[in-house]
Amino acid sequence: MAKMKLYYSPASPYARKVRVVAIETGLDKKIDMVNVALSPVTPNADVDKHNPIGKIPVLSVKGMDLFDSPVICEYLDTQHKGRKLFPRKGRDRWVALRQQAMGDGLLDAALLARYEGFLRPEERRWADWSKGQMKKIDGVLGQLEAETKALKGKPTIGTISVACALGYLDFRFPTFDWRAKHPKLAKWFTATGKTASIKATVPPPG
Ligand code: BEZ
Repeated sequence: MAKMKLYYSPASPYARKVRVVAIETGLDKKIDMVNVALSPVTPNADVDKHNPIGKIPVLSVKGMDLFDSPVICEYLDTQHKGRKLFPRKGRDRWVALRQQAMGDGLLDAALLARYEGFLRPEERRWADWSKGQMKKIDGVLGQLEAETKALKGKPTIGTISVACALGYLDFRFPTFDWRAKHPKLAKWFTATGKTASIKATVPPPG
C-alpha cells in the first residue's frame, strides 16, 4: 500500500488524537508526517487543497483526503488487525463515542477561548465569550470527574480524546488549575500520561 500522508501540527490537539491512534494501532510507520503551520487567520494553501474546511488534521490515503479527527481515527482503526479502539458494538461503543464527544467538545471550547484570548486583537476581545467557553470546559470536566471510572482500562477513542483534551488545557491554559476540583480525573490523567503514545505526542513548548 502507498504510504499515507498526515497533515498535522505538533501543537494541534486534534492531530494529536490521530497521532496517538496511529501509534496505538502500529500504523505510524506507514504514515508520512507533513508538519504545517496555520491558524484561522493564516490559512495554509497546501491544507486548503486537501480539506475545503482548511483545517488539520487531514489524512491523504488512496487518492482520498479524510478529515476531521473522528473520521481519520475511525479509518485508521479499520486498517489494522489488533484490538479495536472504536468498540464495534454494544454499550462499549456508545461509551467510547460519548467520551470522544466530550473530549472534542472540551477542545472546541478551549480553541475558541484560546483564539479569543490570543489571536483576536486585544481591543476587540469579548470577556463574556471567553467566560462562556470556560463554562463549557467546566461542564465537561465535571461530567468526566463523575464518570472517571468509565475511563479506566485499555485505551479507546474515548480515553484518547479525553487525554488529548486535558493535555491541551495544560499546554495552552497552564494557570487554569482544573486538577484542584477534579482529583479523580487528575489521577487518571497522571497515569494515562505515562502511556508511550501519549508521551511521544506531547506538544513542544511554544
Ligand atoms: C495551538 O497552537 O494551540 C493550535 C495549533 C493548531 C491547531 C490547534 C491549536
